Amino acid sequence: MNYLPKNLSFKEGIAYIGETSLVDVAKNYGTPLYVYDWEHLKGNIDAFTEAFGKETLFRYAAKAFISKALVKELKEKGWGVDVVSGGEMATVQETVGTLENTVFNGTFKRTDEIEYFIQNNGGHISVDNRYEIEMLEKAASSLKKKQPVIMRINLDVGAETHPMVLTSGYDQQFGISISFAEEALNQIASSKSLLFSGIHVHIGSQIKDPERYKLAMSSCSEFMNSNLEKVEGEAVFNAGGGFFSPYAGEEVDHELSVYSKAIHDGIKEHWGEGYKIMIEPGRALVNNPGVILYTAGAIKADRGDKPYILVDGGMSDNPRPALYGSEHKLFNISGGKSENETVYAVSGRHCESGDLLVSDAMLPEDTASGDILMSTSTGAYTFSMASNYNRVPKSGVVGITDSGVIELVNRQSFQDTFINDL
Ligand SMILES: Cc1ncc(COP(=O)(O)O)c(C=O)c1O
Repeated sequence: MNYLPKNLSFKEGIAYIGETSLVDVAKNYGTPLYVYDWEHLKGNIDAFTEAFGKETLFRYAAKAFISKALVKELKEKGWGVDVVSGGEMATVQETVGTLENTVFNGTFKRTDEIEYFIQNNGGHISVDNRYEIEMLEKAASSLKKKQPVIMRINLDVGAETHPMVLTSGYDQQFGISISFAEEALNQIASSKSLLFSGIHVHIGSQIKDPERYKLAMSSCSEFMNSNLEKVEGEAVFNAGGGFFSPYAGEEVDHELSVYSKAIHDGIKEHWGEGYKIMIEPGRALVNNPGVILYTAGAIKADRGDKPYILVDGGMSDNPRPALYGSEHKLFNISGGKSENETVYAVSGRHCESGDLLVSDAMLPEDTASGDILMSTSTGAYTFSMASNYNRVPKSGVVGITDSGVIELVNRQSFQDTFINDL
């Protein structure tokens, strides 16, 4: 099953990653708990490196999931990071001591973030809008740096994915419209403190059709070709992230080399010079290796057409179902359960009727309070989107390696939830 951690197996109904029982992990670290099949995750990094080639500028999208341990792993494998905030930058800076292999993205970049990035040798800044250019110029000039920038353009090639994760198109807020791109480029090219280094498109997330990348890169190379004289150094073509990663029931599972080929083919349509590609995969690296463990609490069979199972987490550790109706397959991993399944609604603990983790979960008919439930394909946009709603402490994160459990992020204490209160 292509949406599950690669090293997951079941023995007498108990889930294991490698030799480690997830029921034991739940006992030792408590629930809710984010668990990563760390060998699977590392294998995903290697698979991208192999498919795209070592000369690619790999910038993992921190927004999918970030922790110092992951940054360390990425650094060892020659990868940098795509960041969108001071917090993400500081995580990288604290871990590896420089932002040189980092790209700074986002629609709103604060002055203090821009300064922090430049001061710490930040790699590329992706310009999202014309307003930002002046801010960048001012910061780079006062810090006496010539800052490499790439320009994010907005193309209408996105439309095959969920509207909530589509980020390119005529009514999307990201990037510079192609009709203003030349004007923005002239502004950058005439600046003494900015170095125009390339172009950037992120179509959206969960892109199944590699042809979209080709189309996007073809438009980029056409634009770059008509502005050849303004490019300083080797041109960077940043194709963004969005590489498809399957959830339960989704069969598409391309070899990554298909995407690499599409990107290069698109660039070569109009660009004959030397170039480097940059990519920003997020979900495709971390989603399938990750699961969340919950403990079942009350089971209410006195209403509606199916029983409710109430679990000890919910929209504070995984807001995706409430935010855009994402579906995550649940397993009862406690062991010794009936083979007969029945349908349950599994709801979170928060004070919102929308806090429904799965509306139709097929689980053993003898599922009982205290059982451990495992929510799958939950490695991306879960921990990174977690909140302290209802002052519920954020859950901890562990990885499971060939040699056992590694602790990645501590669980917050009750007291951590009001640590900044005055
Ligand atoms: C600019 C940019 N790059 C990369 C990503 C990562 O996308 P994904 O996690 O789908 O690979 C995103 C996600 O929103 C993004 O906005």
